[in-house]
Amino acid sequence: MKLSEKLITKVTGVNKRGSIIFLHGFPFDQNMWNAQVEFLKDDFLCVTYDIRGLGKSSPGDGQFTMEMFADDCLTIIAELELEKPVLCGLSMGGYLGFRVLERAQEIFTAAILCDTRAESDSDAAKLKRANGVRQINAEGVEKFVEGFVSNCFSEKFKTEHAEEYNVYLERSKKSNSLGVKGCLLAMQGRTGTTLFLPQIKIPTLLLCGTEDNLTPPAEMKEVADKIPNSKYLVVPEAGHMTPIENPEFVNKAIKDFLSGLR
Ligand code: MLT
Repeated sequence: MKLSEKLITKVTGVNKRGSIIFLHGFPFDQNMWNAQVEFLKDDFLCVTYDIRGLGKSSPGDGQFTMEMFADDCLTIIAELELEKPVLCGLSMGGYLGFRVLERAQEIFTAAILCDTRAESDSDAAKLKRANGVRQINAEGVEKFVEGFVSNCFSEKFKTEHAEEYNVYLERSKKSNSLGVKGCLLAMQGRTGTTLFLPQIKIPTLLLCGTEDNLTPPAEMKEVADKIPNSKYLVVPEAGHMTPIENPEFVNKAIKDFLSGLR
């Protein structure tokens, strides 16, 4: 079985103006990009998949590294024979995205990074991951996911779009506990990519929600300042999950960015 099948890869749309590979955040799955795929599919071949251990992909033995995630992304690009795709990642998908760029930026046309960071985990963040694993073992994955996902969205979104919020929450609560713990440890053990940022040559768009408490706008601005050919936009009325919370703004920003490329 091909890796793209194992990781439930979906290919949507037509390649009139290129292809885009989307990398989702934690503890979500490829559905977090639905609004962007719907918006871009008439012009772009949109590729989404469930990162190892999340969504409907199998957790296997639950032993993941960010390097395995990067290997997976590069393998899927090769299996689908994507020619110079645009890479688009959010948060954990951004950690993975930066690492993939560090390994092979020449195979991409451009990059879009949302609500993410290039620094590796601080000691405090590492201890928080360890507490996450402890909580999942003691109380179960649902309890952990409830707390985590709540922090990902702005209060406004949770109140005004309660139904949509619950769809994402309930989907994440169904995550496999081994897979979620594996992802926590993969993020905990990842390398930092800050020193690589000045070497990014391809056009890069960075987006961050005004109310993102997990990867705050000021930190993303510092990342953008280090990337030579970059554009940085703050997404109004959004927390950490900008593509879900303000799809109109994010879709337009992506469309404008992609239009400027060719
Ligand atoms: C994500 O949205 O992928 C997570 O917030 C990443 C993290 O926990 O560092």
